[in-house]
Amino acid sequence: MTDSSAFARLRRKQFSQLDRSNVVYLDYTGACPVPKSLPEQHISNLSSNVYANPHSASLPSSAATAAFHRAKTTVLRFFNARDHELIFTANASSAIHLVAQTFPFQRDSTLYLTADNHNSVLALRESARMARCNTVLIPLESRLTLSQPLSYLYKHNAASSAPSLFAYPAQSNFSGVRHDLQLVHHARSKDIHVLLDAAAYAPTSALDLSRVQADFVPISFYKMFGYPTGIGALIVRKSALSVLRKNWFAGGTVKFVSVASDLHILHDGADAFQDGTVDFLSFPAIVNGIHLLSKIGMPNITKHVATVTHTFLHQIQHMRYANGARMALIYGPNLHDNTIPRGGTVAMDLLDSRGKRMDCHFVEREAGRRGIAIRAGCFCNPGCAERVFDIDGLSVAECVRKGYTAYDCTSGIGCFRVSFGMGTVKKDIKAFLAFVRELCNSYGAKF
Ligand SMILES: Cc1ncc(COP(=O)(O)O)c(C=O)c1O
Repeated sequence: MTDSSAFARLRRKQFSQLDRSNVVYLDYTGACPVPKSLPEQHISNLSSNVYANPHSASLPSSAATAAFHRAKTTVLRFFNARDHELIFTANASSAIHLVAQTFPFQRDSTLYLTADNHNSVLALRESARMARCNTVLIPLESRLTLSQPLSYLYKHNAASSAPSLFAYPAQSNFSGVRHDLQLVHHARSKDIHVLLDAAAYAPTSALDLSRVQADFVPISFYKMFGYPTGIGALIVRKSALSVLRKNWFAGGTVKFVSVASDLHILHDGADAFQDGTVDFLSFPAIVNGIHLLSKIGMPNITKHVATVTHTFLHQIQHMRYANGARMALIYGPNLHDNTIPRGGTVAMDLLDSRGKRMDCHFVEREAGRRGIAIRAGCFCNPGCAERVFDIDGLSVAECVRKGYTAYDCTSGIGCFRVSFGMGTVKKDIKAFLAFVRELCNSYGAKF
């Protein structure tokens, strides 16, 4: 594998802290490392402008309001979101939570959830439960693709006037599988609203919301470009915004509140959902982050990550012990499943020479001792983990009944994940593969 000179240059210019600290960073699905230019530009902006709480009319307050509008317009334009509005939130989870709190589930509504979902999305089922409506689970095939999702969505009774919701990730944070964006169109044709979780997809792929007309799209900015943390967004289709029902108000969301008359009037549109004072100092940094991605070019990032991932899969799948046994087991699409669209997240385990899985937390610790950052566990995506390790609902329930969490008493659940992004270069892959060989030869060779 040769790095294109552009990405080698990007690494030197923006992510030199990785090399200076001898960190082999392979957790881009967790967070993108901080590109050097973003905090520098941010500090320079904050030291030459005066920003204040945007809820007043002073000049510093107006500067913050202008920065808010600039950030909002820049993000919406980046996603080509002409029919959408944007609400800033603390992160993708709070964007999803906002939908959970305000989507008007009724008894005849249906919530469609894919088994591949982050916990923050799975939690929508608790709002559905409160409304006593049905949750339908769309299961996974062995390669962690969705199992006939259309057969579930097309059974939906579009005649029901109760609003229904389908929630799925554009890209799995577990397996890297990219689920079909056309499902948005299919669900909407049956009058089902769609929450498309773009948290793991947006950092390495362009998402054109003028083509993919999802109703609710949560994102976290630190996953896309590393800095700032503590701010995300819910991008909402304008017509879907009017479906949401907000039964509370907060500072910033009201035109008017009276104590004497027990009345309040919410702002119109997205402003009714922007609770309290947003992290207004972050707005200039968001604009710079989006500019950085646009300058590199999302198609270039997609291509770079695809090349890195392909090389990685090719090399790791060919690693063998002296007895011919493979050293690694990939969960989800592997090299040979080239018809399954995937991003740069790979879930896997290391095996000993008899085919037994090594403990993923041991692998994570040993990697950490060598400066290699990977992630072990189920990555807040229990549905994928349960599918991979063949754990059914009854055994989970029995576990919990005994006072354990499912993952404590279901031996060996969990694996580890490596993930790539715009800062990944070939030496990262080389270092990880050398680590795998070393660990397998020292701990896994059992002849
Ligand atoms: C697919 C997906 N959705 C949602 C989230 C939640 O993001 P955050 O922790 O930034 O709220 C994550 C985080 O890893 C994720 O990968």
